[in-house]
Amino acid sequence: MKYRDIEKVLISADQINKRTDEIAKQITEDLKGEDVVMICILRGATLFFADLVRKVDTSVNFDFMEVSSYGSGTASSGEVRIIKDISTPIENKNVLIVEDIIDSGHTLSYLKRILKQRNPKSIKIASLLDKPERRETDIKGDYVGFVIPNVFVVGYGLDYDEKYRNLPDVCVLKPEVYA
Ligand code: IMP
Ligand code: MG
Repeated sequence: MKYRDIEKVLISADQINKRTDEIAKQITEDLKGEDVVMICILRGATLFFADLVRKVDTSVNFDFMEVSSYGSGTASSGEVRIIKDISTPIENKNVLIVEDIIDSGHTLSYLKRILKQRNPKSIKIASLLDKPERRETDIKGDYVGFVIPNVFVVGYGLDYDEKYRNLPDVCVLKPEVYA
């Protein structure tokens, strides 16, 4: 039923799980036993965040931030604003921003810039997906799950018009859904 608008599965739940293991291992190694504040960017990153935090083997604080960049369409407005800020002080802390996808890059450029002003010890980005063809800024993910072509995807947290976030895999919608 929940797959009725889906054209195909691009990345399966099993692939996501294996890749998340690898990323978490790398993050754990890089932290060298230090604590980290992991920041989940609502709402798309929630499922990736929930899986990733359980696989990172060090002391983790977590917090949540919501920014708006898109309306209900599929193209970035280039404008970013904070809807919900974190409440955790991050001065002198290692910070890891966890995002669903780097598309134009506007959201993460903005987030990194404003969080840097709070003087964290370090600041890195983990993103499940990366669409480099669409980039309009010079932002890069420190930990990227999968590089994907320029297709609009849903599932595993990602939405189209707030739907399909609960699909376990990253999927491509049938073209008629946008029509
Ligand atoms: P950026 O600011 O253009 O990099 O956009 C990042 C945000 O756009 C992500 O957090 C997503 O919410 C949304 N986004 C970009 N591409 C997709 C996609 O293919 N599917 C669903 N959401 C997307
Ligand atoms: Mg999002």
